Amino acid sequence: MNGKSNRCWLLVNRPISEPSEEDFAINEAPIPDIRENQFLVKIIYLSVDPYMRGRMRDGVSYAPPAVLGEVMVGGAVGQIIKSNNNSYSEGKIVQGNFGWQEYALSDGIGVNIVDPSVAPISTSLGVLGMPGLTAYFGLLEVGCPVLGETIVVSAAAGAVGAVVGQIAKIKGCDVVGIAGGAEKCRYLEEELGFDYTIDYKSQPDISNALNAACPRGIDIYFDNVGGAILDEVLNHINIGARIPICGMISEYNLSQPQLVPRPTRALLVNRAKMQGLLVWDWVERRQEGIEQMAQWIKEGKLYYKEDIIEGIEKVPEAFLKLFKGQNFGKQIIKVGDLQ
Ligand SMILES: NC(=O)c1ccc[n+]([C@@H]2O[C@H](COP(=O)([O-])OP(=O)(O)OC[C@H]3O[C@@H](n4cnc5c(N)ncnc54)[C@H](OP(=O)(O)O)[C@@H]3O)[C@@H](O)[C@H]2O)c1
Repeated sequence: MNGKSNRCWLLVNRPISEPSEEDFAINEAPIPDIRENQFLVKIIYLSVDPYMRGRMRDGVSYAPPAVLGEVMVGGAVGQIIKSNNNSYSEGKIVQGNFGWQEYALSDGIGVNIVDPSVAPISTSLGVLGMPGLTAYFGLLEVGCPVLGETIVVSAAAGAVGAVVGQIAKIKGCDVVGIAGGAEKCRYLEEELGFDYTIDYKSQPDISNALNAACPRGIDIYFDNVGGAILDEVLNHINIGARIPICGMISEYNLSQPQLVPRPTRALLVNRAKMQGLLVWDWVERRQEGIEQMAQWIKEGKLYYKEDIIEGIEKVPEAFLKLFKGQNFGKQIIKVGDLQ
């Protein structure tokens, strides 16, 4: 970074199936001047998240699509280096939806001040940020775990899944993680204390694996992936099961919907509940979630893993890793240094 220009990534194409690096173009522009009430943020870490695939699509969703030709949307954390806003002084660390760029202008809307004494500031994009809060509220408010229950979580070694599994352990559940690859499964069992893992990439029969992992059936399935794994889990749920639908990453790149058996029979027979969730539904309770998780980190009850790569030029590559399971932990890109 030369300090004189702002490199940013623009969205230039809306892919129909798998996204590629060609869907984005890097652009260089002057660092913008601040106006009244604004401040300028030098980005330190950028986040890439699966939801961004949805923003690349034109259509109705819970948020408007990213605009073609404009800076790609995304969360980031950085340092205020110039300010005309009394609530956001120079030097403060802030997290917000600053987009895929090195410098961002803001008026403070949707921006959170980050206390760097609590944990490294990168955690404001992961365990103490959007993915961690999704796990915290999604599990506790939708999954409603009860001591002794069996919970299965998919994408278990990822930003959301690893936190879900650990909170479920804190709540006294038996935790089964589904993840891709032996190394991720080893990490979950040996380092995070999961009771059992299923490597769905090497396991030819998920149904058998679920029988072995969940001899008392499944009380909660925290679904991050949708698709064939969800279809199979539904054959193993208990009466009164809860199924928080957090994401469906295995379906995000499909150009056509898949034809599969409807889930309604499994839900009816088991009087089970399947409920979609959006982290923003708990925005008012954000601080509560952060404080509790920071406390668990301090007490050694909650661990987090970050997969940090360096350089603004790597952002699309980092984003694409998510869909191949090549990230190990919360995927973050370091694009600058603190002043
Ligand atoms: N509802 C909300 O408010 C909310 C908020 C945040 C995230 N989410 C959702 O939560 C899910 C996890 O997000 P995250 O940020 O924690 O990402 P992540 O788990 O850190 O990364 C994505 C992971 O998904 C797995 N994956 C990719 N393609 C897959 C496929 N075809 N089948 C099965 N697994 C696949 C990969 O893990 P493996 O190596 O194990 O395959 C990959 O590492 C996503 O669906 C996301 O959209 C929802």
